Amino acid sequence: MNIALIGSGGREHSLCVKLKESKQINQIFCIPGNPGTANIAQNLKIDFLNFNSLLANLKYHKVKLVIVGPEEPLVKGIVNFLEKNKIKVFGPTKFAAKLEGSKAFMKSICKENNIPTAKFKICKNITDLKKSMKNFTLPVVVKADGLAAGKGVFICKTKNKILKISNEIFNGKFKSSKKVVLEEFLIGDEASYFLAVDKKGFVPLGTAQDHKKVYEKEKGPNTGGMGAYSPAPIINRSLEKKIINKIVKPTLNALKKKREYFRGFLYVGLMIKDNEPYLIEYNVRMGDPECQVIMPRLKTDLFKIINYCLKDKLKNLRISWKKYKCMTIVLCSKGYPGKYKNHKIIKLNKIRKKKNLFIIHAGTKKQNNKILSAGGRVLNVVVTGQNFFNIRKNILSVLQKINWQDGFYRKDIGWRVINKR
Ligand code: AMP
Ligand code: GLY
Repeated sequence: MNIALIGSGGREHSLCVKLKESKQINQIFCIPGNPGTANIAQNLKIDFLNFNSLLANLKYHKVKLVIVGPEEPLVKGIVNFLEKNKIKVFGPTKFAAKLEGSKAFMKSICKENNIPTAKFKICKNITDLKKSMKNFTLPVVVKADGLAAGKGVFICKTKNKILKISNEIFNGKFKSSKKVVLEEFLIGDEASYFLAVDKKGFVPLGTAQDHKKVYEKEKGPNTGGMGAYSPAPIINRSLEKKIINKIVKPTLNALKKKREYFRGFLYVGLMIKDNEPYLIEYNVRMGDPECQVIMPRLKTDLFKIINYCLKDKLKNLRISWKKYKCMTIVLCSKGYPGKYKNHKIIKLNKIRKKKNLFIIHAGTKKQNNKILSAGGRVLNVVVTGQNFFNIRKNILSVLQKINWQDGFYRKDIGWRVINKR
């Protein structure tokens, strides 16, 4: 069968590596893919947000199934569009994608169904916000309602900051957001829980911890993610049960009550406090870079999981895992998440192939046989092994060999699990 994978980041390269293992797949088309996916699949330079042109290309290449990596096409209804045009697609519908696409929608589901989450208020205008502000103690989390590529969340320590940021959001800083969500600031440990979900059930797809802050010791502004590891030991059995019973099941039931359903990857972003989970956010896709540390640990054929999901048979599937752990450190362009320069050469020729090492491309492009940077998060060095201390040592030695003068990376990824040794 010919399949297509939508997206161009590290997440999509790592999904592609995993899908490549499946014997049932004839050819993988990556739309648009990156230089990493070009080595193992065929990249097609198509704007996937132009659904009509996408459809014409899928038909031309006889693609029978589409797997969607990023959130934007999902929130814009790619699943509804392709299904209407008789192409199978793995991902949630436009309605279900609102779990990520609208923080106000997600929070309302929480409120209506008693799902543990930070106390919140959805504000439609500045008068509304000024009134609501009084019911929160500082710091307050201010969020743009719609998609903002990880840039729409602000932790505000003063009332002036709350007003400034909210005004910017109301004035259209994030095009997709007309509302502001005010939230209580939760203190605890962040962790992520992943599932594949269909109309009738779900299977857990592991745990991970990301590092969102740009600098070591969790300092500086938020990024898309500077590094991650899996599994996340903080999510123990009893916590997992609570996540499923108090958060996942009530959410899926809430969609059913609305005569809707969820199908695809579901990413549950959590704050853990005293062994209790609080929902911070839903993402309706795999995490990036979390996907890069989960895929290498997955023993079950990913394509099999996707097919069970599309037939609503996930309930009958048992997932198995490899025995090792996995970590990634993200190599970024200097200046990220602020301004940075592209088109800087990265040399990978000193890196020797190893079974436990994956060089996953994210923001790169190939020109005249050279790899150039083309984004803030450029490469993921992914290593598997028995303990996080040695894994990190291996990753850092690979990064030293790459020795990219125009980039930087965090050396303390995994501190929560390594310092406790
Ligand atoms: P979100 O896009 O909602 O996941 O927010 C991005 C990041 O902001 C999260 O990963 C947290 O680190 C932080 N954050 C969001 N909401 C809260 C909250 N209510 N309390 C504390 N930190 C938060
Ligand atoms: N790493 C965070 C995310 O994928 O949203």
